[in-house]
Amino acid sequence: MSGIAFVLASTALVAGTGVVLAIILVVAERYLASYGPYAIDINGGSKKLEVQGGKTLLATLMGQGIFIPSACGGRGTCAYCKVTITAGAPPIAPTELTLLTPEEQKASVRISCQVKVRNGLAIEIPEALFRVRAYKGVVERIRDLTHDIKELRIRLVEPPEIEFTPGQYVQLEAPAYGNNPEPVYRAYSISSTPSERGCVELIIRLVPGGICTTWVFTMLKEGDTVSLNGPYGEFRLADTGREMVWIAGGSGMAPFWSIVRHMRERGIQRKVTYFFGAVGRRDLFLVEELRQLEREMPNFRFMPALSGNPDANGWAGERGLITQVVERHLADGADKEGYLCGSGGMIDAAIKVLKAKGISEDRIFYDKFT
Ligand SMILES: Cc1cc2nc3c(=O)[nH]c(=O)nc-3n(C[C@H](O)[C@H](O)[C@H](O)COP(=O)(O)OP(=O)(O)OC[C@H]3O[C@@H](n4cnc5c(N)ncnc54)[C@H](O)[C@@H]3O)c2cc1C
Ligand code: FES
Repeated sequence: MSGIAFVLASTALVAGTGVVLAIILVVAERYLASYGPYAIDINGGSKKLEVQGGKTLLATLMGQGIFIPSACGGRGTCAYCKVTITAGAPPIAPTELTLLTPEEQKASVRISCQVKVRNGLAIEIPEALFRVRAYKGVVERIRDLTHDIKELRIRLVEPPEIEFTPGQYVQLEAPAYGNNPEPVYRAYSISSTPSERGCVELIIRLVPGGICTTWVFTMLKEGDTVSLNGPYGEFRLADTGREMVWIAGGSGMAPFWSIVRHMRERGIQRKVTYFFGAVGRRDLFLVEELRQLEREMPNFRFMPALSGNPDANGWAGERGLITQVVERHLADGADKEGYLCGSGGMIDAAIKVLKAKGISEDRIFYDKFT
C-alpha cells in the first residue's frame, strides 16, 4: 500500500469509528439510559418537582408547566433561558461559555436549554415566571401590514384571558412541518393592549427561510388553533415621568403599538418622540393611526423616516438611517429615557447615538429581535 493510500485508509477508519461511536451514544442515551425520577427544588423549597431525567432543564421545566424564556427555541443562541443552579449542576458545557459572563459563571448561572437533567437539582428562577401560562387560541384575523409584515389577532380560548404589561412578549409555537421535525417556539412582542384581555395581537415580519415566520406566512389561516405561552420580558416603561425617545424599525413597531395605545387609554401624558425607520414607503405601516394618536395626545410625536431612495420620490418626511434622524433631531438626552426595538444592528447603533447625546446606559431599554 502506498503512503497516501495508507493515510487515506487510516483517516477513513478513524472517522468511521467516530461516527459509529456517536451513533451508539445517541442510541444508548435514547433507549438504554434511565434517568430519574429526580427532585428539582425551586427557590429554596418554595416549589418542589419530581421529574424524569434525560431532557434539558428547559424542556423538563416546560413539561411541568414552568416556562423559562427561550427566544431561540433551545438552540443555545439567545441566552434568554438563564437559570441559577445552586446544587447538582453538571460542568459548564462549551456551548454555554460564550453566553455567560465570567460573573454569571461564578454565580452558578446556566443556560437551561444546554443542561441535561441527570440528577437532582436546586435552582432559582424569578417568581414572575410562575405566572407564565400556556394558552390555546384561535386565529381570528390575519392582515397584511406591508409586503413582508403581517398582523395576527389571536382570540384566547384556554385559558380565555391573559394579563401582561405593555412591552412584554409571548412565545408562539410553530408546529412540525416539512423539514422542521419538531415544534419550535419563537418570541413575539404583544402589540395589543392589556385592556383587551381575551385577545393577543402580534406583528410578525417574514424572515426568509425562517421556520416560524414561513409557517405563519404560508400555512397559518384564520380559524386555525395555535399554542403560545407568556407573558415574558422586562421591556416596559420605567416608572418615572421622564421624557422618552422611542426608536424602532420593521416589526419592532409591535411593543410600541401596544404601549402608545395603553398610554392613550390611561391618559398617560409623558412626552414621547417615536422615531420609526423604514427603507421605502412600502415598508411603512400604521402611519395614519399613529398620526391620529398625535392629534389625540399632545405630548406624542411620531417621526417616520425612509432610508432608501427608489420609491421615496415625493416623500416630504425625514430621510436617512433612523440613527441619523435621531442624531439630527435629539438636541440633548440629559434626563431622557431611550426605548429601542428591532434588529441587533440597529439597536447597537442607536445606543451609541443616545449615549453620545447624554442618555446614560441605565436609562436605555431595549428588546433585540435578532
Ligand atoms: C424578545 C423578542 C421579541 C421579538 N418580537 C418580535 C416581533 O414582535 N415581531 C417579529 O417579527 N419578530 C420578533 N422577534 C424575532 C422572532 O422571535 C424570531 O426570531 C423571528 O421571527 C425569526 O423566527 P423564524 O423561526 O422564522 O426564523 P429562524 O428559523 O429562527 O431563523 C432563520 C434564520 O434567520 C436568522 N434570523 C432569525 N431572526 C431573524 C430576524 N428577526 N431578522 C433577520 N434574520 C433573522 C437566523 O439567524 C437564522 O439564520 C422577537 C425576538 C425576541 C428575542
Ligand atoms: S433557549 Fe435560547 S439559549 Fe436557551
